[in-house]
Parts: sequence; structure tokens; C-alpha cells
Amino acid sequence: MKSYILGIESSCDETSAAVVCNGKEVQSNVVASQMSTHKKFGGVVPEVASRMHLESILPVVESAIDDAGIDLDEIYGIAITQGPGLIGSLLVGLASAKTISLALNKPLIGINHLEAHISAIHLEHNPEFPFIALIASGGHTNLFLVNSYTDFEPISRTRDDAAGEAFDKAAKLMGLGYPGGVLIDKLASKGNPEIHKFPIPFNKGDSLDFSFSGIKTSLSNFLSKNGIKDEEDLQNICAGYQESIVKSLINKSVKAAGKYSINKIVICGGVACNSRLRQLAGETGKELGIEVLYPSPSLCTDNAAMIASIGYFRFMNNESSDLYISSYSTSKPRIVRGRTNF
Ligand code: KG4
Ligand code: ZN
Repeated sequence: MKSYILGIESSCDETSAAVVCNGKEVQSNVVASQMSTHKKFGGVVPEVASRMHLESILPVVESAIDDAGIDLDEIYGIAITQGPGLIGSLLVGLASAKTISLALNKPLIGINHLEAHISAIHLEHNPEFPFIALIASGGHTNLFLVNSYTDFEPISRTRDDAAGEAFDKAAKLMGLGYPGGVLIDKLASKGNPEIHKFPIPFNKGDSLDFSFSGIKTSLSNFLSKNGIKDEEDLQNICAGYQESIVKSLINKSVKAAGKYSINKIVICGGVACNSRLRQLAGETGKELGIEVLYPSPSLCTDNAAMIASIGYFRFMNNESSDLYISSYSTSKPRIVRGRTNF
């Protein structure tokens, strides 16, 4: 049987709608990015983001249905990002999803954005459970123990900034523009990480938590003292800074794999696009006998296919949401199988 789920995502600066069959086959995945608008401001402006979602949500949903080549009545149900994210942006997606659900008389399911990032892996791979998932994005850096398609056990989080935020703020400090991760990745690929070394954040002890605010301060101090001499110096600074973030992400993920005796790590979220992270995680995995998997870059950044994928598995798990659900902006505690999710 083919079950088509319509996924809708509007948690930050991408309006996206997708149709996914049986949780794994992407039929369409339309993403309208607001990046060029927010670039001028050096970051996402929440009020501007909400207004742009309002303008694009219906055309994006229509395109997703058209591209999938299905009729509306063939949709099994609608999956919508409930949170965390920017509240105004989330509300636009949620109101649209509720309206479509009511009009078509199809079930609705509210989805946690972090769990969706992890579920993107099922669109291209078939990892056996359990596995460790590292999610590193602009707003989040967490480790999860993933026991099934619908069972996510949070095991660590960042105590301050997210990894993507550390990239974005560093790019701002160096006058590079937004979004910083992509620009630093590009410059770092031509630099030498051994010239300017930065501390690997929060690297000692048993804690699986992350911390990235210290490394940003250490870059700020470095820049005040030394400045940026030329293009080559900039490339070396980017390479050194990136190396510290990447090593922190990999060290903690490997530590988690050891703690839970698991030999599979899935890396997802926007920062999973980072070329050095992919290279070093691959090398480390080979060395330690750990399989490392990541979604393709277009499925690492925000998209609705990942929302539709986990939506299917939640529907198959007999879960659904009523029309009274609300969006939540922060990592609101939520009970999943008796555990506190965030
Ligand atoms: O997952 P995502 O699209 O949105 C959130 O849910 O936050 O992640 C966006 C983040 C931004 O901070 C961006 O700088 C970072 O992912 N990013 C990268 C790269 N591509 C995107 N960071 C490092 N290297 C990259 N190649
Ligand atoms: Zn995201």
C-alpha cells in the first residue's frame, strides 16, 4: 500500500512542503529559501520571516502536490513542524496544516523539528536501530539515542550556543556575511588548521554536553589582538576555528557511541553539510569500526521531506494530533515513552 504524507516546514527561514511515500520515497520536496532577504541583515529577522512564510506557503504546498503528481485526496495525512523554532514562522505553517487537514478531512500530526532532522536519514539509508544521532544546526546541537523510527532518547545538548551559531557568529566577527557555516567551510578548505589553533570546547571529562560560546570568545580575543593579515591568514584562521568545532562534535559523538556500546552514528542538521566534519567523521569511524552516515546536503538543511518521513512513522504508530495543538518556540519538555524530550 502507498501512503502519501504531505509534510510542511516553516520553523525558521525556509518555507517547505513535500510529499513522501511510506516514510522513505521522496515524491517532491519544494523549498523556498529566504536567505537572500535575511543576508542583508546579517541573520534571520523573525518578523520578516513570518511575513515571507505567509506569502509563500500556499504556492509552495501547491507545487509540492503538483510535483508529486498526486491528487489531494490521495494524501493519507499531514505532518507539520510544531517546534522548536521561531514562533511567528511556526504558526504560519501550523495554521495552514490545520486548515488543509480540516478541509480534506485527513489526520494531522505535529512533529518535533529535531526528531525530523534525524529522520532525514531514512530517506536515503536504512540504518538498523539503535543508533547515535548527532544533530548540529543553527539553533541546536544535541545527541540522541534513537531506538526506533519514533523513539528518540535525548542524551546531551549544548549548554550555550549551537554549533551552527558558532560558525555564523564567527563569520560575523570576521566580516564574512551570512550564513557563516558555508563561507567558513569554503575558506577553511584552502587553509591550514595547524597555524592558528583554538581550544577544543568542553573536551575533558565524561560529559556528553557541548559548549561553543568559549571558542567564539577565544576567536574574538584573537582577532582583537592579531587582526586578519591577508586572505591566506583568513583561510588559516577559518581552518583552525572549524577544526575545533568539528573535533568537539566528533569527540562527543564517539564518546556517546562508546557509552551506549553502539557502532553507528548518524550526523544531521545544517552543520552536517560541513566538508571537514564529513571527512574527519569518516576517517574516525573507519579507525574505530563505527559506521557514520549522513543525509545528502539538501536533506541536512531545513526541508519538509524529513517532516513527512517521521510523520508517516508516527501515523503508523497510531499517533495523531488534534486541531488544538500549538506551536512551541523553545525546546519545550515533552514526554515520550515516559522520558522527557526536549
Ligand atoms: O538545519 P539548518 O538548516 O537550520 C536550523 O534548524 O538551524 O542549519 C543551518 C545552520 C547554519 O548555522 C549554517 O551556518 C550551518 O547550518 N551550515 C554549515 C554549513 N552549511 C550550513 N555549517 C558548517 N559548514 C557548512 N558547510
Ligand atoms: Zn533545522
